[in-house]
Amino acid sequence: MLGRLNHVAIAVPDLDAAVALYRDTMGAKVSPPQDEPDHGVTVVFIELPNTKVELLYPLGENSPIQSFLEKNPAGGIHHMCYEVEDIIAARDRLKAGGARVLGDGNPKIGAHKKPVLFLHPKDFQGTLVELEQA
Ligand code: CO
Repeated sequence: MLGRLNHVAIAVPDLDAAVALYRDTMGAKVSPPQDEPDHGVTVVFIELPNTKVELLYPLGENSPIQSFLEKNPAGGIHHMCYEVEDIIAARDRLKAGGARVLGDGNPKIGAHKKPVLFLHPKDFQGTLVELEQA
């Protein structure tokens, strides 16, 4: 069921500093910032040969990234995203195994314009897991 690691998302308190670090110091390919109002984030994609890193910065009121940064002022890993072929089948299988799906349990359209779901960190060793239909 589980496919490629699509991305690792890192919440950052200073997006410009994080972009400069990845682009200039580490020499990575970095996208322009993209606002995702439905998710309360501004996202920058860092393309690596085998996966991506996404820098997340709060956007608007009640951003989930704002509360994460209040608990982790220096920033930190926010979630991992795994690809699945069929997100509904994957959700149903995980729910049957006891995992909790966040929100209303239905996929939303994510930053890559594909359906995504988030799974409760307490059911995944303390890691917020995103599934994306590849
Ligand atoms: Co993500």
